[in-house]
Amino acid sequence: MSGIAIMTSGGDAAGMNPAIKAAVDHARQLGMNPYVVYDGLEGLIDGKIKEATRELTSDMIYRGGTLLRSSRSKRFFDYEFRRQAYEHLKERNIDKLIIMGGDGSFRALNDFFNDFEVPFAGIPATIDNDIAGTDYCLGVDTAQNVILDCIDSVRDTARSHHRAFVIETMGRDCGYLAMTTALCSAADICIVPEIPYDLESIYKRLQPVINEEGSCIIAVVAEGTRVAQYLTRWLTERAGMDTRLTVLGHVQRGGSPTARDRLMGTRFATRAVEALNNGDINQIMVYHD
Ligand code: F6P
Repeated sequence: MSGIAIMTSGGDAAGMNPAIKAAVDHARQLGMNPYVVYDGLEGLIDGKIKEATRELTSDMIYRGGTLLRSSRSKRFFDYEFRRQAYEHLKERNIDKLIIMGGDGSFRALNDFFNDFEVPFAGIPATIDNDIAGTDYCLGVDTAQNVILDCIDSVRDTARSHHRAFVIETMGRDCGYLAMTTALCSAADICIVPEIPYDLESIYKRLQPVINEEGSCIIAVVAEGTRVAQYLTRWLTERAGMDTRLTVLGHVQRGGSPTARDRLMGTRFATRAVEALNNGDINQIMVYHD
């Protein structure tokens, strides 16, 4: 029986576990032998590959992160390590791969295909929502909801002290998380790498809010702008607000996947298995709003 191996790579994202479960279940339904690879591309090189039992996937749908664990592999750039990975697959008769991750992971498996002709299907998974060709990547909805919970909590304390808060979100060079959560939390300021801004015009717009009794200012800033500390000082000095900075960090990557991430994980994964089963090789699953 032909084997298909499922793996996660790069930064973890909520929704990976539901997608792993759906891929394993669907592969089995279509008569394939499903395997899982632990520790991403590093694990592929080291042969950390196991048959996917029902027990493995039975309790994973509500868990955050990836139970297969992940890695950002430098060794996979080296042909000799890729060959080692190929030997591990050949031993087990695995001739198809599903990878969840970002552009770097897809490129790595494209190189692998060029070397050894093992076809793959890619599932976009990153909280940054920055993969070309798809409007949605796994993990985004869960991260947005985690961020919104944090902003709502910060707003409680900000209002209690008539303070300004600068909240830095992740997203690497992409402002999607910051922009969407700023909208959903009715933030007063949002700064993202993609859009130029002018602090003086922001100041003019906010003056009535600053002077209002019991008000607070919420600024959401994408990490890619690198201005969180500067903005905190500026709000203190120019706007005269007692200002604090909250860097949300990796808390944004955790948490139980939301219904949307469970559904999208299931949809991406079943399509990925079907693509490989139909002989559509090296396709990245995409979603359009
Ligand atoms: O790509 C996902 C992401 O969480 C980015 O938003 C962030 O810049 C980066 O990964 C953090 O990487 P690491 O987990 O290696 O610190």
